[in-house]
Amino acid sequence: MKILENMDVAESFSDQFLGYRGFCAISEVKMAQDLDKKGYAILKGAISERDCHVLAAGYDAEDPYRSRVVMSRHGFGQGEYKYFDYPLPDLIARLRREFYEPLAKIGNRWNGLMKIDQRFPGTHQEYLDICHDAGQSKATPLLLQYGVGDYNCLHQDVYGEFIFPLQVACLLSKPEQDFTGGEFVLTEQRPRMQSRVEVVPLDQGDAVIFPVRHRPKHGTRGTYRVNIRHGVSEIRSGKRHTLGLIFHDAQ
Ligand SMILES: [Fe+2]
Repeated sequence: MKILENMDVAESFSDQFLGYRGFCAISEVKMAQDLDKKGYAILKGAISERDCHVLAAGYDAEDPYRSRVVMSRHGFGQGEYKYFDYPLPDLIARLRREFYEPLAKIGNRWNGLMKIDQRFPGTHQEYLDICHDAGQSKATPLLLQYGVGDYNCLHQDVYGEFIFPLQVACLLSKPEQDFTGGEFVLTEQRPRMQSRVEVVPLDQGDAVIFPVRHRPKHGTRGTYRVNIRHGVSEIRSGKRHTLGLIFHDAQ
């Protein structure tokens, strides 16, 4: 798998240079096993500390974003985020492209288990072409910024008919140093059962891979669909930045 290679290639972003380290801490098999069993997988150190700093520091720039969303204005929580515009910065484009391929295999298997018809082509460009033909053509990778008292309500990142079933969030800030509080949370709503919550432990540079909307779960009467939401608990102090990678585009 390409994303297992440990790379160190300089990439430009807002006139600065980023070292793209790639990932090496988890195998594709382990990623699939964790997703099947726990509903999420963590890729330790997916982004180097330097890249985390550069990305977070780039939040206040005008380029390369297409829009800024103040969450309280929409009832999404408190805090803000910016969507990147096309052409994406090289690092973002590369992360999105390389995450896609192993995740598409898991997504195809999951959709089969959940009896969802949608299937995903081998490359991200092929999938984006399908999204764009259906009118989902706006870039969805985003940077999020939270300050003291901010939080993100439980939600699902659905932007149209085409939904890639997995997404990635990378923590760019250092817990206990740059911020306290601000835990990444997943909830699982099972049919006719009470919801279950999972707090995902992340360090700076870690990526969490998690379901956008559903995941399959095996029960005594076969496989059923579990409804997933994600959010962030209140930030107690400092500032917290995250990079979000969503593989379908938006209308
Ligand atoms: Fe989200």
